Amino acid sequence: MRGSSVTKVVYGGKPGNAAVWRDALLDLKPDLDFVPSPDGCDPSATDILLYEPAGTIRDLRPYAGVAAIQSLWAGVETLLENDTLPPEPALLRMVEPGMTAGMSEYVIGHVYRAHLGTKRQARDQRNRVWGDAAPPLAGDRTVGVIGLGALGRDATIKLTEAGFRVGGWSRSEKSIAGVTCLHDADGFDRLLAESEIVVLLVPHTPETENLMNAAAFAAMPRGAHLINAARGALVDEDALLSALDSGQLASATLDVMREEPLPPDHRFWHHESVTITPHIASATRPATAAATIITQIERFERGEPFLYRVERDRGY
Ligand code: NAP
Ligand code: GLV
Repeated sequence: MRGSSVTKVVYGGKPGNAAVWRDALLDLKPDLDFVPSPDGCDPSATDILLYEPAGTIRDLRPYAGVAAIQSLWAGVETLLENDTLPPEPALLRMVEPGMTAGMSEYVIGHVYRAHLGTKRQARDQRNRVWGDAAPPLAGDRTVGVIGLGALGRDATIKLTEAGFRVGGWSRSEKSIAGVTCLHDADGFDRLLAESEIVVLLVPHTPETENLMNAAAFAAMPRGAHLINAARGALVDEDALLSALDSGQLASATLDVMREEPLPPDHRFWHHESVTITPHIASATRPATAAATIITQIERFERGEPFLYRVERDRGY
């Protein structure tokens, strides 16, 4: 709205997706001034920058005067690590119903795989072993979700609806019906000790780097399962491989790794207890995320505070 009554939004996401975003946003707000590429635009005349690491913007200094940088991703660690990031703009993480629904579907699907023992059964089939022990019922299985934010909260609710016993851990105290909500270091130890399936949905911050290390794996029940749908840096990969090799962990399902794409010679590719998915647990869907961005724009136009603001010192 700099000098005009129309909010100017510059799209700095993946170039090939600009038209989809333009259509989704203009559908909801036809008077929006949507600039489909940062090339040739005047950053000082921009109100809101849509940003993702997969876009073309590397130097953020020219955008010091924008009101907000709206991340198109939920995770903002790459943005925060960019040393050209100016201090002034509000940073907004992506929270949108399509992303949340997709993540819960991924979590439920892979929790069921671990719960039913599909990996072990596939191994038995290859070896012509008739392993006829039936899995327990969901009500006899405890799932622990690490991170109870936009994604973790929804996943815990849906896991509870599916009949699992569910625990969750977050930085601040939470209350979710039917979920044992824990926080602080003692809560973390308890969650690990009681969960046969642990799902990671916390951001990568200096505090959560290597959260899942040798001590954490040793604290889990023998034969437990890990599902990492958050960020690779939460996991000490060598400690994970040792825990899998020793049988302390029965399986790991990894959507995210320290290096992506996973290098061809990495042990995860051919480890019989590891399932790899290529960072597709969920994604921002323009069709549903456009409403979140329009809400932010309308709040900006009314002079109201933005939603989902990143606390830079906290790292998420
Ligand atoms: P969010 O709403 O910011 O929630 C983060 C949760 O983690 C909050 O409950 C927070 O606690 C907790 N947390 C943060 N630091 C913590 C710490 N040091 N100790 C304990 N709890 C801590 O984030 P979100 O939208 O749910 O997304 C979570 C992460 O998922 C993203 O950051 C991203 O890395 C990842 N992700 C992955 C994919 C994929 O496709 N693989 C897709 C989307 C997102 P409080 O509630 O107390 O603040
Ligand atoms: C995807 O990983 C995201 O953070 O949105």
